[in-house]
Amino acid sequence: MRASDGWDGESLVTRLDRETGAWIFIALHSSRLGAATGGTRMKPYPDRGAARADAMRLAEGMTCKWAVSGFPRGGGKAVIAVPPGLDPSRRPGLLRRYGEVLRELGGLFWTGGDVGTSSADMDVIGETGAPYVFSRTPSRGGAGDSGGLTALGVFCAMETVCWRLFGDPSLRGRRVLVQGAGSVGSALIERLVGAGAIVSFSDMGEASIRRHRDAMGLTFVSPEAVFDAPCEIFAPCALGGVLNADTIPRLACRSVVGAANNQLAGPGDAERLRARGILYAPDFAANAGGAVGITGIEAMGWSLERAEREVRAIGATLRGIFEAAEAAGITTDAAARRIASERLRAPG
Ligand code: PHE
Repeated sequence: MRASDGWDGESLVTRLDRETGAWIFIALHSSRLGAATGGTRMKPYPDRGAARADAMRLAEGMTCKWAVSGFPRGGGKAVIAVPPGLDPSRRPGLLRRYGEVLRELGGLFWTGGDVGTSSADMDVIGETGAPYVFSRTPSRGGAGDSGGLTALGVFCAMETVCWRLFGDPSLRGRRVLVQGAGSVGSALIERLVGAGAIVSFSDMGEASIRRHRDAMGLTFVSPEAVFDAPCEIFAPCALGGVLNADTIPRLACRSVVGAANNQLAGPGDAERLRARGILYAPDFAANAGGAVGITGIEAMGWSLERAEREVRAIGATLRGIFEAAEAAGITTDAAARRIASERLRAPG
């Protein structure tokens, strides 16, 4: 599926928001299994090209995510590259104008929260972009933030990894290092603490550090040391590209299972992990819980109980990926992509 000469998606919508100078990129990767659906990421980028490339890569990841999850949606992603230091008072206007683009697309793209966007932002986008906006706050009829369901899915993925590594799915006594204690990371930390894991974390934000280190008493690992810290499970829950030629040789973990999208920097990194004997849970399989759960509730009428049941199935999906990788002698990432491609090629 990953064309060597670039992107194999369907289309790319580009808008310049003149009022703020923000660039909007909506990458529609595949509508083969359903309408393109993916989060809206909002942050500053070094340049326009980087923002565009991120949207395209993330959209491809969403195609894989829906396909391996067996959920009838297609891959897409939006990036709003905001100028650094954008005055917060100009944010609602930008979000409403972005909502107008969604409305113009008329259902070619459906969205939810992602890095840099909250449920409150989805409420604002929904003022002009409804009905193509998921994960609004419950007061506006949405299913709310997807972080908790994403964390549930990652936790179930960790149980599968423990079962695979130790013959026992329990997280009790396992050392888990969570990189990034934001909306997903902090929900994951709570679940892990509840399950008796030995949790450490890394974060850049003062408030998060105070909360998790000082209030909860967890071990803080500085961002410089995060790749060297011994643990059973390393859980990247911040940004992408953290698994690369520089970091993989340093890792002192048995497995990588996290919520961040695009954890592998490049095509060779899955093999690097395999060569080091580190079990990698493909990000788009492990982190599908938020997208599947929220879209299930809002577009398929699932109850929260049903959504949680479907999200827990990520554990079994991952078991299938590990078994397929072993049988074929390929990386877990390649096995997951193969499963996604087969679903995308299947007739009907
Ligand atoms: N941020 C989610 C993801 O990357 C995208 C999403 C959230 C899609 C909520 C739909 C609803 O998987």
